[in-house]
Amino acid sequence: MPVATVSALAPGTMKWVVVERERVLIANVDGAFYALRDACGHRQEPLSKGRLEGHVVECPLHFATFDVRTGKLLSGPVAEDVRTYAVQVKDDTVYVKRAPSP
Ligand code: FES
Repeated sequence: MPVATVSALAPGTMKWVVVERERVLIANVDGAFYALRDACGHRQEPLSKGRLEGHVVECPLHFATFDVRTGKLLSGPVAEDVRTYAVQVKDDTVYVKRAPSP
């Protein structure tokens, strides 16, 4: 499903959208788009309220960090990775696949 326009999401920025009643974070890392669940596995804080530095997003609450490309936990008081979604870009539109990637 279409979730954003490329022109509205500059490199180094992120936003949250809703995919199947779930908040999903869309991040533009140097022109490549990534999608992951917009909830930190620690206390469910929206990661979209945090900071994006390169391909690393930092949770605003207790500063766990995740790789937005893979959803992998990098550091912090969390035990689990963040679920990612498949992303496709066509012309000026960013699409997120409804089913989460494994
Ligand atoms: S809620 Fe994200 S690190 Fe605690």
